[in-house]
Amino acid sequence: MTANTPNTVAVGIDIGGTGIKGAIVDVTAGELLTDRKKIPTPAGGKPDDIAATVLELVGSLGEIPGGATVGICFPAVVRHGVTMSAANVSKKWIGFEAEKLFEKTLGRDITFVNDADAAGFGEVKYGAAKGKGGLIIVTTLGTGIGTALINDGVLIPNAELGHLEIDGVDYETKAAYSAKEREDLSWKKWTERLQVYYETLERLFSPDEFIVGGGVSKNYEDFLPLLKLDTPIVPATLRNNAGILGAASLSTMRATFLQ
Ligand code: BGC
Repeated sequence: MTANTPNTVAVGIDIGGTGIKGAIVDVTAGELLTDRKKIPTPAGGKPDDIAATVLELVGSLGEIPGGATVGICFPAVVRHGVTMSAANVSKKWIGFEAEKLFEKTLGRDITFVNDADAAGFGEVKYGAAKGKGGLIIVTTLGTGIGTALINDGVLIPNAELGHLEIDGVDYETKAAYSAKEREDLSWKKWTERLQVYYETLERLFSPDEFIVGGGVSKNYEDFLPLLKLDTPIVPATLRNNAGILGAASLSTMRATFLQ
């Protein structure tokens, strides 16, 4: 590979509050080249424990092709490699040089971004947002609620709209998929909360479309038809692989951009 040839293979790692997933990816095709490996997030979600788990995960992917870049996404505000928040992981991440820790642990350069931004970027590049103009809000419903704002195909990073305060509470605590599981809510009861959430986003942003991702989006038929919104709302097409694909793809673009 010459300096001007963008690499087509990259590693994508998606760190979540519950599990850490990863695969080797063909970023041209937007396909996983290996099985997706998953390891539970260590209890407490502390930096050193998560870094050690990521090292184990990368080791389990087999031989990484020469020239492959590595992209890692994480559930926090990420500015210039530093994590600025910590909702479902240890508070030690606040103001922490996270990118540096993963680079030291893995012994190589990485690209480090917010998990919902990676998922949103993945949907723009390969999935439900591909080729679409206007303002799209991608939401990921999982342990928390992740959001990515995409305007005319351009990602605006670190939109933390899962933490909108509605009815006096940080709304991801009521409407994330983890709340449905924790409180054993029926699809109908959970969707009543989603209705309030998406109506609020509609009022504040007037988006052209909502895209709903996260693992639960595979069950979209159970809840999306129950929502009554003015804005079209569609399931993500990359489902749980969006973060892996988006992080991997972003890492190759950054490598090209920085040359
Ligand atoms: C975090 C976001 C993250 C989302 C999904 C939220 O609690 O604040 O940064 O994108 O969870 O993981």
